Amino acid sequence: MSDSAIQYLLSRRSVKFVQTPGPDDDELALILQTAMRAPDHGRLRPWRFKILRNDAIQKLADLAIRATREAGIEMTAQKEETTRRWLKEVPLMLAVACHIDHSNTRIPEDERLLATGAAVTNILNAAHMLGYAAYWSTGLGTYVDEVNEALGFDSLDYRFMGYVVLGTPIQSMTPPERPDYREFVSEWTGSK
Ligand SMILES: Cc1cc2nc3c(=O)[nH]c(=O)nc-3n(C[C@H](O)[C@H](O)[C@H](O)COP(=O)(O)O)c2cc1C
Repeated sequence: MSDSAIQYLLSRRSVKFVQTPGPDDDELALILQTAMRAPDHGRLRPWRFKILRNDAIQKLADLAIRATREAGIEMTAQKEETTRRWLKEVPLMLAVACHIDHSNTRIPEDERLLATGAAVTNILNAAHMLGYAAYWSTGLGTYVDEVNEALGFDSLDYRFMGYVVLGTPIQSMTPPERPDYREFVSEWTGSK
């Protein structure tokens, strides 16, 4: 692997507040194709993505805000306002779900969710490599059945996993501090 590919992986960061331009169709195709390279036990390809742009993002905001309230989850006027202000600028969004193929009883559901998460990680890194920013959110009614169903992901066959927004950062930001990997890694040698 080239030095620059490693540097891309080391410099990725999430950016919530993005604006146009977002990836064009060719760039989005490339980004989504990297999701197909995620590790995937049993080749189930459980990842599913719904593309939302412009008006569709505003319709989702309307739906998610209303359905969240109707589900009895707190959505203050201030939260509504900040959510709408955020989404008004977002040029492109992916709704992410894991398909649960019930005909396969061999691969545990956790592994399918992990494969879908790995696919999203590829998307986040690919967007960064193409010069865009991205952010994974489990807000916007992720855990509200009505929202999942409206996006085509009923809970019988899918686990809804939230949204990835993609675009150009609204503000430049200093990269966050990252921990030293040695805090999280130890070697097991087999002897006590
Ligand atoms: C599955 C998943 C769901 C997330 N949902 C949210 C969310 O709803 N709100 C939020 O502030 N961050 C959420 N995050 C965290 C951000 O996407 C991001 O990872 C975090 O701000 C740290 O930034 P970094 O990716 O640059 O380390 C989520 C992350 C994951 C993996």
